[in-house]
Amino acid sequence: MNVFQIGAAGGVGRRLTRLLAARGDSVTGMHRGPAQGETVREAGGIPVIGDLITDTVDDLAQKMQGHDAVVFSAGAHGTGMDKTTLIDGKGLQKAADAAALAGVTRFVLVSVFPDALRGGEAGDGFEHYIKVKKSADVYLTRTDLDWLIVRPGTLLDTPGSGRVTAGPAVEYGDVHRDDVAAFIDAALHEPALRRVIVELTSGDTPVADAVARLTA
Ligand SMILES: NC(=O)c1ccc[n+]([C@@H]2O[C@H](COP(=O)([O-])OP(=O)(O)OC[C@H]3O[C@@H](n4cnc5c(N)ncnc54)[C@H](OP(=O)(O)O)[C@@H]3O)[C@@H](O)[C@H]2O)c1
Repeated sequence: MNVFQIGAAGGVGRRLTRLLAARGDSVTGMHRGPAQGETVREAGGIPVIGDLITDTVDDLAQKMQGHDAVVFSAGAHGTGMDKTTLIDGKGLQKAADAAALAGVTRFVLVSVFPDALRGGEAGDGFEHYIKVKKSADVYLTRTDLDWLIVRPGTLLDTPGSGRVTAGPAVEYGDVHRDDVAAFIDAALHEPALRRVIVELTSGDTPVADAVARLTA
């Protein structure tokens, strides 16, 4: 499978590149700067420069040509509300439009639980982020793409267990970036798992079984 990753040098992205490359997939990893290009290469991907803010839909579509799937795990990561709107919001719209234009039908989006941090500790920037992410989900679900939306809980960098709780609605919790990457790696290779939203936390079910159950 030829996979085009947006956010390939990020925490989830580089873990996913490693898994896909290890199973023999070809990964093109979009990044913005030279240092991130090295990260993509080290993970086993082919770096390609791109920016969701400055690239047009046509620019992105050209980069996506010839791929079988797009994985979008980019995000503004707390750099400001404007950036959140441009990257997590409009950037996702551009990427989905570009995938359609390039004829790449499979599209996986890393989103977020709408009920993340509901305890009142979140500020305006986080509230904006949640709204933008939800609107991005809505946008993608209204396309004709074979989309899959994965909503992870709070992401952890510590090593994953390979076990998750996954379903259309699960209780909010943490999840290791390793396990998010493992879930997407398995889900990408299960074409029947399409046009669904999956919420994902750490849990007891091996990733492969979780994907098989969702597909059944
Ligand atoms: N943090 C959490 O607890 C949490 C929880 C649920 C969901 N999420 C979501 O999970 C996703 C992945 O998280 P992560 O930890 O892997 O994020 P991350 O490490 O911050 O990586 C974000 C990636 O987005 C890319 N990016 C930023 N601006 C861009 C732009 N203008 N054009 C293209 N790429 C751009 C960065 O690219 P460069 O490498 O070029 O800088 C980076 O690779 C995000 O969408 C996030 O919203 C996060």
